[in-house]
Amino acid sequence: MCGIVGFTGTQQAAPVLLEGLKKLEYRGYDSAGVAVMDKDRIAVSKVTGRIASLCEKTGQGKAVPGTTGVGHTRWATHGAPTEENAHPHLSNDGKFAIVHNGIIENYLELREELTGRGYHFESQTDTEVIVHLIEMYYRGSVREALIRTTNRLQGSYALGVICTEEPEKIFAVREASPLILGIGVGENFFASDVTALVSYTRNVIYLEDGEYAELTPDSVRVFDCSGRILDKEISRVTWDVRAAEKGGYAHFMLKEIMEQPGAVKATIEPRLKNGKVVFDELGMTEKDLRSIRKIVITACGSAYYAGCSGKYVLESLCRIPVEVELASELRYSDPLIDSHTLLIVISQSGETADTIAALKEGRERGAKTLAIVNVLGSSIAKLAGMTVYTWAGPEIAVATTKGFTTQLVVLYLLAVYFADLQGLAASVYAQLIASLQALPRQIQQAIDMNPSIPELAGKYHGSSSLFFIGRNTDYAVALEGALKMKEISYLHAEAYAAGELKHGTIALIEEHTPVIALCCNWTIMEKTMNNIVEVKARGAEVLALSFRGNQKILSAADDFLFIPDTDPLFSAVTEIIPLQLLAYYTALENGCDIDKPKNLAKSVTVE
Ligand code: G6P
Repeated sequence: MCGIVGFTGTQQAAPVLLEGLKKLEYRGYDSAGVAVMDKDRIAVSKVTGRIASLCEKTGQGKAVPGTTGVGHTRWATHGAPTEENAHPHLSNDGKFAIVHNGIIENYLELREELTGRGYHFESQTDTEVIVHLIEMYYRGSVREALIRTTNRLQGSYALGVICTEEPEKIFAVREASPLILGIGVGENFFASDVTALVSYTRNVIYLEDGEYAELTPDSVRVFDCSGRILDKEISRVTWDVRAAEKGGYAHFMLKEIMEQPGAVKATIEPRLKNGKVVFDELGMTEKDLRSIRKIVITACGSAYYAGCSGKYVLESLCRIPVEVELASELRYSDPLIDSHTLLIVISQSGETADTIAALKEGRERGAKTLAIVNVLGSSIAKLAGMTVYTWAGPEIAVATTKGFTTQLVVLYLLAVYFADLQGLAASVYAQLIASLQALPRQIQQAIDMNPSIPELAGKYHGSSSLFFIGRNTDYAVALEGALKMKEISYLHAEAYAAGELKHGTIALIEEHTPVIALCCNWTIMEKTMNNIVEVKARGAEVLALSFRGNQKILSAADDFLFIPDTDPLFSAVTEIIPLQLLAYYTALENGCDIDKPKNLAKSVTVE
């Protein structure tokens, strides 16, 4: 969702900015633009639609002279995705150009004030007030004008600014929106995330809320709001540039599905030492755990469904009550959270606005907070009392796959860890560890044992509605399976707890309605099998997902997806694999833009 890049150096800026924007495309956007300092004026190029059009318009950037500039991908909030509303926005005097990620909540009153003072607006965006404020406050120092401007803003922002009066500089400031500085040799950068920087430099500074940066080709200075210089740590990005490339796959999503055995291994391995689960990053004692009366898990989208699945495992192994709440609901619900609550927030990006707000709410109420996050140095990782990284590597496709499965696995590891703190029989513990160690191999098997998925996608891709049913953990996986299908294939797909079918949904089942029945829970298998019989009696076409060895299912359903014999506690992580592949191949059949589905964003940084 909105991406920003900035560059100052000796090479031509526009091609660098466009390369950076291409790397940010995955975040989701509907228009794009660049502004480059050309001697004493700023040249702006904007397009609606894809970066490819901006590349074409600017001759791959070569037609835009200048070595200092900023770029932007916009995901429309205030005002339609038009060229006028696309960033960068210029000040009326043409001296400043800005790019902005976030939302200015008090923009209407600022717009009224600025209009009253004679400033002219070209767009309907909230962003444009910022550039006029900067012009209004400018008295010879951009940094000071920026500080005065941000003092007037309410909301979230990562801002990039250039000014004709200080032509070699790029300025940046952040508040509740991600922004990272890239430190090069004779050139410096900023961007919304490291994927836009790694092909140029691996040395980065994670800017924090309320910090301002001033970059020239040879210097990077970071200030606080009183203008005091801060001594910021330079971090080294360790992942391979190739991790953020397709590597021969048709889509990032397929690549990321296939990466899951390795990603899950990378999540598990550092946490298993001498046959025990260790979480050096937690430092929790048995006494700390005993003080916890309940666990609340909060997140958005797939991360929320990971939480729904984790609830069963945590409750089963630890016997601590677990509530799972959508972050967008929890933040406005006056939640029953106190110092005896462990609040677990889950977020691949670590930047989801609602999840951040829920985390803050929990902190204010005195909860112990634990974040499960993939992106290093992200806002949630910094805000939480304890942070556990999933180590999934960069995830580029908007629809999460390895982000989700590694979140599940962290929840499993936590459940085993907490259960052990409470005291687990050695034999049970050893069995759980063996089950965890088997997961990467079993995920690979779940990929390999379903060669018929492209054919099944050919059968189901034209359906007007698909129903996913299951019980307990199967139900949690059904929710994520249906979400995957909706997100990328644009088919209507809904998940239901199988036992709820009779209370309404069964009215929707007619001849050839596809029902995807998840039967991976031996203890209640018979119950879901009964539901299969019920929907078949009404003409449904049943695609059953179960263990390969489940003979009973073979006579009950029309088509099959299989998983290997996984520990039922942890089976969600293998179960979701065929459903991810089914969604992928269905979207492929439907000719959808799989990695960048319409209207969706990877990192939802607005409420
Ligand atoms: C967006 C993404 C989803 C993701 C959700 C939460 O909707 O498209 O894939 O599950 O945000 O994102 P987070 O980064 O907090 O896990």
